[in-house]
Amino acid sequence: MSHSLFPGKTDSPRDTITAYRRHEPGTQPDYLYPAYRATGSRAPSQPLISLPHTRSEVTGPMFGHSDIQPNEHDLTAQHGGEPLGERIIVRGRVLDGDGHAVPNSLIEIWQANAAGRYAHPRDNHPAPLDPNFTGTGRTLTDKDGFYSFVTIKPGAYPWRNHDNAWRPAHIHFSLFGPAFVTRLITQMYFPGDPLFAHDPILQSIPDEKARQRLISKFDLETTKPEWALGYRFDIILRGRESTPFEE
Ligand SMILES: [Fe+2]
Repeated sequence: MSHSLFPGKTDSPRDTITAYRRHEPGTQPDYLYPAYRATGSRAPSQPLISLPHTRSEVTGPMFGHSDIQPNEHDLTAQHGGEPLGERIIVRGRVLDGDGHAVPNSLIEIWQANAAGRYAHPRDNHPAPLDPNFTGTGRTLTDKDGFYSFVTIKPGAYPWRNHDNAWRPAHIHFSLFGPAFVTRLITQMYFPGDPLFAHDPILQSIPDEKARQRLISKFDLETTKPEWALGYRFDIILRGRESTPFEE
């Protein structure tokens, strides 16, 4: 839908705002999902108010290649030695809700190491830190919307949400896209993880197809012989098939 920023004036291309489609019901996690305990303290207690998409929502920050260091997309090359664990390549394409590539979009990732521990002061569970692994990376999508990271497959970790609670292995993703309303923070999972059915964060997304969109696929094309397995994770920003938002 479009509307003029200046009622009463004739629309010119500069004055016309094209709003983004709203999320389809069931494709995003419920704000309140009691099995995921933290939602109890942060879910809104009042009905949400739908805000119009004005210029401040449909524009966004621009990033350039000079903002990013060459080794930021390779999380195995940020220290003096190589981190322990299974080296992997994560590659995919960022598309908008109409199936068009999203170029020059900033993607940031963060993750636990191969033992399931974050290099973060609040993570003190008894698994080893890796001096050669920080677990953070950034890159920009290319002109066709593709991105890739080299990293280590993260381990599962305990998180005290309930008795014997373990998170399935995952990588956190943050994407900016072309506008503030396309900002997406989500998690990528690995195929076949036995913890999926026990994870209230993944299960808080009601729609099964939407949950499946958060699980990467093993990809022989991305896999490099004698070097690393490849996983494919495509991301759709804002639209009917959009990737669920997840914290
Ligand atoms: Fe995590």
